[in-house]
Amino acid sequence: MLINRYENYSSKYKFNNNSAANILSLPGLVIIRHSFTPFTKFFRKSLEEVSRRIIFAGLCDLAGVKQKQLKHKSDIMGLLDGKVAIVTGAARGIGKAIALKFASEGADVAFTDLVINEAAEETVKEIEAFGHKVKAYASNAADFEQTHEVVNQILADFGKIDILVNNAGITKDGLMLKMSEAQWDAVLNVNLKSAFNFIHACIPSMMRQKSGSIINMSSVVGVHGNASQCNYSASKAGLIALAKSIGQEMGRKGIRANSIAPGFIDTPMTQALPEDVRKQWIEKIPLRRGGTVEDIANVATFLASDMSSYVSGEVIQVDGGMNM
Ligand SMILES: NC(=O)c1ccc[n+]([C@@H]2O[C@H](COP(=O)([O-])OP(=O)(O)OC[C@H]3O[C@@H](n4cnc5c(N)ncnc54)[C@H](O)[C@@H]3O)[C@@H](O)[C@H]2O)c1
Repeated sequence: MLINRYENYSSKYKFNNNSAANILSLPGLVIIRHSFTPFTKFFRKSLEEVSRRIIFAGLCDLAGVKQKQLKHKSDIMGLLDGKVAIVTGAARGIGKAIALKFASEGADVAFTDLVINEAAEETVKEIEAFGHKVKAYASNAADFEQTHEVVNQILADFGKIDILVNNAGITKDGLMLKMSEAQWDAVLNVNLKSAFNFIHACIPSMMRQKSGSIINMSSVVGVHGNASQCNYSASKAGLIALAKSIGQEMGRKGIRANSIAPGFIDTPMTQALPEDVRKQWIEKIPLRRGGTVEDIANVATFLASDMSSYVSGEVIQVDGGMNM
């Protein structure tokens, strides 16, 4: 029976030979590995693959899992299975990486950006490849009315919201003496007011379902400040205090709120800096490299998932040890 089922499952699944998760989920494979050592490398690998698939089919049989319920590998191992996430400003950069990682862990993803251009459509396609629902919405996160409209539309399209990532952000740097009111207002509106807008629009439905995880994308400069970034630093510090306040206010309703404080992350935002400035930043980092967008997406996935169900009001610095 197991061998017959192998045919059915093998057409639905692709197994990664190096995946620790596959090996962990199939402990019997370790025994089979050893028993095949006398064979040639090629032959042994083929047999391992067949064994792996037979054991997987067997486990599905034992667990009573119906084949038609399984659409993707993440359906049986995703940290965010069945959850719906909103990520703001996710057409590119850190937001895009978070949206992709969430989908790879089983979430349906709604994301916003100022415009849904070719890059955003490409992001939609990449997320779709994980086999989960995805939709992109053009919306200015700094606008209160637009935000409420888009959240209502997302609720109509997806049915619920479990995770909100307030990621949209901009910089307009300058020394205090030279900073214009417009520079200050633009950064505060896009970085901080946008998070107020989205939290305000999302919490009624999160309160009804008595659960929700809110993640504010802050920055290490929101914790430590930075010369020539008083507007940006103040907005990022505000995001931390906003998350802590929401965590206190909404904890009894099952809603958690945390912040991520990325350090120097390699994205279009930091690629725009002069090469010598980039070098100076990297020299200050104990791990001697800029962060990747995936480094941030991994921490966001932890905070979004039930793995962090007792974590609220926290700020996680993801900065290669720059500010320990
Ligand atoms: N890159 C870094 O090193 C770094 C470090 C610390 C914090 N951050 C924060 O991480 C977040 C993402 O940064 P990134 O480097 O990916 O930036 P990015 O510029 O690559 O991406 C930001 C996205 O937000 C969108 N956006 C801007 N204004 C918007 C608005 N009003 N409404 C909706 N979308 C809007 C942009 O169109 C863009 O797609 C930002 O909040 C940023 O401040 C980045």
